[in-house]
Amino acid sequence: MEAIYISNSDSVRRLIDKAHDFNQSLLEELAEGKITEEDWFEINNKYFTEHYLASDNPRSQSGHGGNEQGYFHSHQMLIDVIHKSGTFIDVGCANGYLLESLHRWITNLGYYKLVCYGLDISQGLIELAKKRLPEWSNHFYTGNAVNWAPKEKFDFVCVKELDYAVPGKQQLFLKHLFEHFVKPNGRLILGPYSEETSTPTMYELVTSWGYKPTGYIERSNYKHHDISRRLLWWDL
Ligand SMILES: C[S@@+](CC[C@H](N)C(=O)[O-])C[C@H]1O[C@@H](n2cnc3c(N)ncnc32)[C@H](O)[C@@H]1O
Repeated sequence: MEAIYISNSDSVRRLIDKAHDFNQSLLEELAEGKITEEDWFEINNKYFTEHYLASDNPRSQSGHGGNEQGYFHSHQMLIDVIHKSGTFIDVGCANGYLLESLHRWITNLGYYKLVCYGLDISQGLIELAKKRLPEWSNHFYTGNAVNWAPKEKFDFVCVKELDYAVPGKQQLFLKHLFEHFVKPNGRLILGPYSEETSTPTMYELVTSWGYKPTGYIERSNYKHHDISRRLLWWDL
C-alpha cells in the first residue's frame, strides 16, 4: 500500500487547529498534572454535551457543521466498507445521526441490512439519541469506550478518532476495540477523519503498533479540496 498524502497548507492547519484548540489546552493540563485522566474524560464529556445539545440541528448535535450535501460527501465512503449485512456500532455516536444516515443509505441501496447500535460517554447525548430514534432505544449505551465492553460483539465497529482515549493510551484503546467489540470475520473502521498535518500519519502510527490496516479510502474534503478525508479498516 502506498504512503498517504500529507498536506502542509495553511488552510489545513487552520481548520484542524480550530477543531482541536480546546482539546489541546486540556492535553497540556493533563501532561502538566493539573488534571487527572478522570477529569479529562469528565471535562470532555461536559464540553461535547453542552456544545452538541446547544443546537437543534441534528448534524450539529453530532459535531458536524455544513449542510446535508457536505455531510454526505464527508461520510459516503462508509458505504463502501459495508460489504455484508450485520450489526454496526458507532463508538462515540453522539445523537445517533451517523447511524441514522448510514442505515438509510444502506437500506436505500437494497444490498445489505444493518442493525445499528451506538455508544457514547455522554448521557445527555444518549438520551437525545433514544428520543430521536425510539425504535433503536434499546440499542444505545452510555459508557466510556476505553473500558466499556458490549455483551455481544459486532460485525462492524466504527470509531471516528482514537483521541477518545488520552494520549499514550490510544494503542490500548485500539486493542480494546479489537478484543471486545469486533466479531470474528468482523470489520473495524477508523474514520472518516481529516488528514493529519504531522508525521507519523494515522496509517503509519497504527501500523507501527502492529495493526496494519487491511485497506483505506481517501477522498477530498467537500469545501477544501486540498484536505483529504480518510478511513482505515481492518478485517478480522
Ligand atoms: C465528533 S462526535 C462523533 C459523532 C458520530 N460518531 C458521528 O460521526 O457523527 C464524538 C462523540 O464521541 C463521544 N466520545 C468522546 N470520547 C468518548 C469516549 N471515551 N467514550 C465514548 N464516547 C466518547 C463524544 O461524547 C461525542 O459525542
